[in-house]
Amino acid sequence: MTTPVPPPDLCQLFYISRSRSTPLDVEQILASARRQNLQRGVTGILLFSGGHFAQLLEGSSRALHDTMSAIDADPRHEAVTRLIEEPATRRRFGDWSMAFFEAPGADDLIQQLLAGQHIPPERARRVMDKMLAPCLPANSQGAQ
Ligand SMILES: Cc1cc2nc3c(=O)[nH]c(=O)nc-3n(C[C@H](O)[C@H](O)[C@H](O)COP(=O)(O)O)c2cc1C
Repeated sequence: MTTPVPPPDLCQLFYISRSRSTPLDVEQILASARRQNLQRGVTGILLFSGGHFAQLLEGSSRALHDTMSAIDADPRHEAVTRLIEEPATRRRFGDWSMAFFEAPGADDLIQQLLAGQHIPPERARRVMDKMLAPCLPANSQGAQ
């Protein structure tokens, strides 16, 4: 896809959730997410660990708000927990209306995070960077 022009209020949002999806559900989630994200100028990546999801969304604050309304309401997952929600200087997955990565090794970590209390921002950022590191496009390595 063509990288969407960055909105003046580019934001990023990273959340984790517990899956209630079958493999077929995940295919359908991705197809629908890509269609809607393209229209809203949202980019990012969905990680699926088998039992959990983690997702990075990039776009205007309005676009992320609308997207999260659909995500929060979707019964194919539960315990949707935002770890990071903040302004961003650039997109890390600008070529993707929604990239997809299977990360079975992340199941335990996400389960622990969901079972815990408040996650401080520094820890949330480390978790996000660790999960995204194997998936980042070559030109985004080391991005803030
Ligand atoms: C794990 C997960 C990730 C999702 N990611 C997105 C997304 O990136 N963008 C989006 O618009 N909807 C996302 N959704 C919501 C749905 O895919 C879908 O858009 C919503 O349920 C409405 O779908 P429909 O109108 O095509 O039936 C996600 C849902 C789940 C469970």
